[in-house]
Amino acid sequence: MHDPLELYERAVQSPAELATLLAALHGGSPARLREDFGGAGAVSRAFVDAAPNRRALVVDIDPAPLARLAGHPAIGTRVADATELDDQEPADIVFVGNFSIGYVECRRRLVRYLAASRRRLSPGGLFVCDMYGGPGAWRLGGLARRIPLPGGSTLHYWWEHEAADPLTGMVDNAISFRVETAGDIVEEHPRAFTYRWRLRSLPELRDLLLEAGFGSVEVRVHAELEPDGRPKPPASPRDLEADWTALIAARA
Ligand SMILES: C[S@@+](CC[C@H](N)C(=O)[O-])C[C@H]1O[C@@H](n2cnc3c(N)ncnc32)[C@H](O)[C@@H]1O
Repeated sequence: MHDPLELYERAVQSPAELATLLAALHGGSPARLREDFGGAGAVSRAFVDAAPNRRALVVDIDPAPLARLAGHPAIGTRVADATELDDQEPADIVFVGNFSIGYVECRRRLVRYLAASRRRLSPGGLFVCDMYGGPGAWRLGGLARRIPLPGGSTLHYWWEHEAADPLTGMVDNAISFRVETAGDIVEEHPRAFTYRWRLRSLPELRDLLLEAGFGSVEVRVHAELEPDGRPKPPASPRDLEADWTALIAARA
């Protein structure tokens, strides 16, 4: 039986690519990553694995995913509500991934959290989060994908919009998994992860980041690097399709 967290990492994340992109967006030699709402810290693991002098701190309200990082020599963990912490642990990059910024429903709380993140950042440091939007964000239904697993099994991934209210911005989403081996479904993980999030538009997020004291905000819809290793340029309005997923990067 697979651990749903392992299936999540295979289906949802590309931690090595993301860690490289975060460092490239930072533009210097970032050595300290803070991953808030970090779950099992896949991006932090990839970040510290990529260079010997790197450290990461992963914060999550749930001790279960953090337990997977126990004993890692370059990664510290903290079980806490990320929006309540007032530590001054310095970071070169603060990252909030997989739409987790949407957990912060209250605007005032979000500005307070963003301002605390900015204070933790070293000069030139970067806060990065992601968001999705567009008309499809309010449409109920799901998206299926198949991912090959080592050993020849197939992972069936199902992302479902279970409820969505464009008047309040609140959505309920769920991720389910099935594992197929030799044509038989051998594992079912219905609604293995469920989320209740407040979706915010890109201009709303930009306003909140500027209000929290950040100096500049850039949006990227192509989370990729140029062949020479530089990040692709920030998005122009033409790059944004009707349904979009974007990285929002704010400089301290
Ligand atoms: C969608 S998962 C994302 C995990 C990870 N960032 C990633 O990219 O895969 C959201 C995580 O946020 C955590 N979480 C939810 N509310 C939180 C809060 N107020 N403070 C810290 N962590 C929180 C959940 O326990 C969960 O592990």
